[in-house]
Amino acid sequence: MTGQLIPATALDADALRAALAAAEPVLESGIEVVRAPGRVNLIGEHTDYNQGFVLPAAINLETWIAVARTDRQRADVTLAADGQRAAVDLPPNERRRGSWIDYVAGVAWSLNEAGLPVSGFRGLLASTLPISAGLSSSAALELASAWALLGDTAPTVDRTQLARLAQRAENEYVGVRCGLMDQFASAQGRPDAALLLDCRSGEFRTVRLPLDEFVLVVLDTRSARRLAASDYNRRRTECEAAVAALAAVEPSVRSLRDVSRPLLERHADRLEPVALRRARHVVDENQRVLETAAALEAGDLAAVGRLFAASHRSLRDLYEVSSPELDALVEIAAATPGVVASRMTGAGFGGCTVNLVRRDAVPALALAVSDRYSAWAGRDAGFHVVEPAAGVSRAPSG
Ligand code: GLA
Repeated sequence: MTGQLIPATALDADALRAALAAAEPVLESGIEVVRAPGRVNLIGEHTDYNQGFVLPAAINLETWIAVARTDRQRADVTLAADGQRAAVDLPPNERRRGSWIDYVAGVAWSLNEAGLPVSGFRGLLASTLPISAGLSSSAALELASAWALLGDTAPTVDRTQLARLAQRAENEYVGVRCGLMDQFASAQGRPDAALLLDCRSGEFRTVRLPLDEFVLVVLDTRSARRLAASDYNRRRTECEAAVAALAAVEPSVRSLRDVSRPLLERHADRLEPVALRRARHVVDENQRVLETAAALEAGDLAAVGRLFAASHRSLRDLYEVSSPELDALVEIAAATPGVVASRMTGAGFGGCTVNLVRRDAVPALALAVSDRYSAWAGRDAGFHVVEPAAGVSRAPSG
């Protein structure tokens, strides 16, 4: 097989602790290791910032930081992968630099703004999460940084509040107007379930996945996600334009969450064509999230498959955030017996697809992807069999 099969390898807390102790005059026993997961969204794309519903699962592709406390008001972090080192004063006194340290700085800024006590540390960071693949490596870095900065206080901070503070860091410090989903999943993840989140109220419940018989497979197009941030922010503006046009005739409408499909169609001529397409996607996608949760709970996987397929088409044709590579991976998966559901996941413009696959069909999918995608795309797809994971926590030893 030429397609790359990347197991979701576990990181090793003891090795990370030993590596930090070797570089710093600290005892291994004084080092704690924090971890935060990435996420895959099962369904509910571009609905979170429209106050709608999402169904993500935190996954066992994670970011870990070994943390040694210092008495300086400074977070000083080294990347285990390449030795890159960057530091930020606490609270940060400069604006963003355009690198990964901005996520640490942004969270330090946001925690400080909220009046939460942050303290200085030397950190060594390792991750199994691919960067810029749409699996929320940023959110994982934000949540792990939050726990590193908060130290002993971290477990006492409400997880949803922590997710909101990390979202604020990304919105106001890093400059991406993301919704709550990624940070929420990284904060609230559960080892065996997805999370059905109402982004308006912040209420959520777990939805168990049929993981005795099926696995989640994430396929990474490994294509560049150029202009993703500006295109993402533009989608938000287009949704806001749709809300403004509808609110002019229906004052009760404050977000697309308040809009039904009949209401939207009644006033369709008041919306610009682009805004109308975006709104149609969001309104239908909210409905699909609720139907998917119900179908998973009823064990109706054929329905889950249909809902994933409809979501993908809508993201491709109405929201216009898919890509030829994403469409190709979904098409290949759909043609593979034993793949029950497949769609693009995350913001789009490249990135990954999420697939629900019968356990015994995983090798056939790997083969189909390496046969058909690699030759066509000119590169191998990333192939990750992932499991739902717990939200941010101290890492277990050994
Ligand atoms: C990114 C954002 C999320 C969400 C998704 C699209 O992952 O960070 O808030 O909007 O895109 O569903």
